[in-house]
Amino acid sequence: MDIVLSGIRPTGNLHLGNYYGAVRSFVKMQEEQKCYFFIADWHSLTTHPKPENIQKSARTILAEYLACGLDPEKATIYIQSDVHETLELYLYLNMNTYIGELGRVTTFKEKARQQPDNVNAGLFTYPTLMAADILQHRAKWVPVGKDQEQNMEMARKCARRFNNIYGVEFFPEPQNFYFGKEALKIPGLDGSGKMGKSEGNCIYLCDSEKDVRKKVMRAVTDNGPQTPNSEKPEVIQNLFTLMHIVSSQETYDYFNEKWNDCTLRYGDMKKQLAEDMVQVLNPIRERIEEFSSNTQLLDQIAKQGAERARESAAATLKEVRKIIGFKVY
Ligand code: TRP
Repeated sequence: MDIVLSGIRPTGNLHLGNYYGAVRSFVKMQEEQKCYFFIADWHSLTTHPKPENIQKSARTILAEYLACGLDPEKATIYIQSDVHETLELYLYLNMNTYIGELGRVTTFKEKARQQPDNVNAGLFTYPTLMAADILQHRAKWVPVGKDQEQNMEMARKCARRFNNIYGVEFFPEPQNFYFGKEALKIPGLDGSGKMGKSEGNCIYLCDSEKDVRKKVMRAVTDNGPQTPNSEKPEVIQNLFTLMHIVSSQETYDYFNEKWNDCTLRYGDMKKQLAEDMVQVLNPIRERIEEFSSNTQLLDQIAKQGAERARESAAATLKEVRKIIGFKVY
């Protein structure tokens, strides 16, 4: 079994894009590989969240992960800040990472532009903390989006450099894992681009039935098909893509034919799309509500996950200390 690891920053709720683009594949992976899925609450400190929100936002994601089908008996599910070992590795990796290369990371440059009054060292060393997250379990595969490619390159550099400096073959170089056909790029409801929290075009897994219907009915469309069998403009293609994901093939074909013979009414299509989304989301939302209200269970799951993650990280760190030359008792 290969070691797989992925993390998500606890900034807001999970949406359909997260679900179809990532979490649903995690649920499959946990059956086949040794998986670690964690909530990167340390990483969220770069923007200084309020103390009263720290635990709440981590537990929101935890409840939503579980509601989607991540199983603490099959995967190690934990909260980053519960595993102190990560920080020791973070320190060692920082010693081998150069400010020039960290400064060239695009996400750093972007964030520095967005928050010029708060260009802190944690933001600067975001990639080495991420590398520590991955390398502490000696993970081989990291399922993440394309936007994480540069961070992944830094993680590989950290692994390679450590191995080179000490003349060991200790850390495997972690690879991005793409789900191929299974992971879908989920479009937003505003006609362009993909679904994203910051884009404000999301259907959240915890949205009420009413909200889902309202959002879908408001999705951007155009004047309707003008010539038979014409190519769909992006806004319309997006609706069909969503329908392809949540509805049955027959439903999709039905509306596709209507598009092709120019009799499609967007209102009808949206109503059907909303209905099918509600069917997918209802059971997930019910489970989110169940898990969220059971704080004792959430704590127990987080604690168990932390214990397992620490065990794995501690074993790595013991070797790392030896390799670096510290005394290991
Ligand atoms: N940087 C990732 C993101 O913003 C979150 C993350 C932190 C992560 N540590 C990680 C992802 C380790 C994968 C592996 O989405």
